[in-house]
Amino acid sequence: MCGIVGAVAERDVARILLEGLKRLEYRGYDSAGMAIADDAGRIHRRRAVGKVASLEAALAEEPLAGHTGIAHTRWATHGRPTDANAHPHMARGQVAVVHNGIIENYEALRRDLEGAGYTFESQTDTEVVANQVHRHMASGADLLAAVQATVAELDGAYALGVMAADEPGRLVAARRGSPLVIGLGIGEHFIASDVFALLPVTQRFVFLEEGDVADVRRETVAIHDRGGKQVERPERLSEVSPDAVERGGYRHFMLKEIHEQSHALAETLEGRLSRDAVLPEIFGPDARPIFDRLQRVQIVACGTSYHAGLIARYWFESLAGLPCDVEVASEFRYRRHVVPDGTLFVTISQSGETADTLAALREAKNLGFAASLAICNVPESSLVRESDLVLMTRAGPEIGVASTKAFTTQLAGLLLLVAALGRRHALTAESEAGLVAALHDLPAAVERVLALEPDIADLAERFVDKRHSLFLGRGAQYPVALEGALKLKEISYIHAEAYPAGELKHGPLALVDADMPVVAVAPNDELLEKLKSNLQEVEARGGELLVFADDRVQFTPRDGLTVLAVPSVHELVAPLVFTVPLQLLAYHVAVLKGTDVDKPRNLAKSVTVE
Ligand code: F6R
Repeated sequence: MCGIVGAVAERDVARILLEGLKRLEYRGYDSAGMAIADDAGRIHRRRAVGKVASLEAALAEEPLAGHTGIAHTRWATHGRPTDANAHPHMARGQVAVVHNGIIENYEALRRDLEGAGYTFESQTDTEVVANQVHRHMASGADLLAAVQATVAELDGAYALGVMAADEPGRLVAARRGSPLVIGLGIGEHFIASDVFALLPVTQRFVFLEEGDVADVRRETVAIHDRGGKQVERPERLSEVSPDAVERGGYRHFMLKEIHEQSHALAETLEGRLSRDAVLPEIFGPDARPIFDRLQRVQIVACGTSYHAGLIARYWFESLAGLPCDVEVASEFRYRRHVVPDGTLFVTISQSGETADTLAALREAKNLGFAASLAICNVPESSLVRESDLVLMTRAGPEIGVASTKAFTTQLAGLLLLVAALGRRHALTAESEAGLVAALHDLPAAVERVLALEPDIADLAERFVDKRHSLFLGRGAQYPVALEGALKLKEISYIHAEAYPAGELKHGPLALVDADMPVVAVAPNDELLEKLKSNLQEVEARGGELLVFADDRVQFTPRDGLTVLAVPSVHELVAPLVFTVPLQLLAYHVAVLKGTDVDKPRNLAKSVTVE
């Protein structure tokens, strides 16, 4: 999704902005741009379609220099990725704007501005903001007042960074619906979409709240709430080290993050387990009275986080004895609901800024849920701030667009929740002790699976020239198959479908032939024999099977069947462990295909628009 960086400093800001943009690349984008005010109070701008490297090349040819500037990576929503649609957008050379989000009433504003003599160079919704700010300044408002007046006229979601040629040394930032953070320096201040962009220059941050407008100058930052009143927002020290967003010797962030899973899971579980139980207070002091009255769970999330929810449903129902529904956020928010008494509303999100999930949470507040609980990886995120209860996954920054360690740590967090709620229902102390023992062993189990990487890299060669593939699983492994298919399609661009294996004969079997690799996940569970029969159906049609199987499971060696033995683990944690080889498979196929693994085409890391 779009990324914003801005700086007001005594030193030249061009390098700071460029480095910030590089650090925001992981969010996904298709063009980039920068505007800097020179000492004579003129704003100069460079923009380029494609990677930040293209902008860097443009800047090498025609450098920008100055002490106040804004920069942007754009993920196209209104208008194709072109130079003209790239940000910053300018009004009559006087006002420059970068924007993340969507202005819903831009057409009406544009007509009105055109009527007032303003012209437009782009198809974006953002350009209306630049012109509208200019219009207010032309009627006498200073930059702050002009931005305040403009945001009051906007419908939709935005994070904005705005500068004006005749007010050098000043940036105005505003947020509603899209995240924006202010970085505090000494005699210099910054704005950005997230803290990663600014870690090389500061670790001190102020997070803007909904409706805030900030007046950012070299020596001061003044924040005004949506009513225009000046307010104090707490300063926070980021615990993310600047190195956390380096590749650290790995070829891609995704590979680094796959390999970090064992450590990330240990972090997620740290201080939350005794020898044989999940510690009762890990959801905070307010949790107990809420948990005591819960009777069911509604999970809402998107993409990979939704898959985590689908797996958790099996755990809630089989282990905790609690009914559980799971829905994608974009559907949940536009549907009428009947909410039974005592239902906990659970959101799952790596970023905590996914627009659909956030909107669903806000919608849920009026629907009579007992409480909301977020399982999230970003402590400062909107989702965390707006939920009643929170469990942080502590996976550390995830930069690769394809979610890996965020997913497995979400699953670990969900198991903690299943135990905390389950012991009030069907979960016995003995089952909890079994689960907790499996959780204690989990980081080591993931380490053992990671050791399979060389074998998986070899298997990946079989996929390179394929256009379609099928993933199969049963029970809680069906969502694992969904996740494996999602990973493969998003980074290798090979079409991948996932099915519950028993559903094969009801349609998808028609697709199976020698050109369609079929991947199956086969833990040693009660559905194993059924899965084996389903796999026979594939073999009988000449399909080539790749089975990731628990190492206790016996398959007769035969043509058309490749089995990769996965170290056996407790059935409950098997979905986490079996996910890892599927991540590695997708990764190595993508590398062989030469795709942009960390930034796959058309995708964004943090989907802050609807
Ligand atoms: C896929 C992926 C996405 C995200 C989805 C939700 O690899 O990363 O499907 O899972 O966009 O994002 P979060 O978890 O940030 O709400």
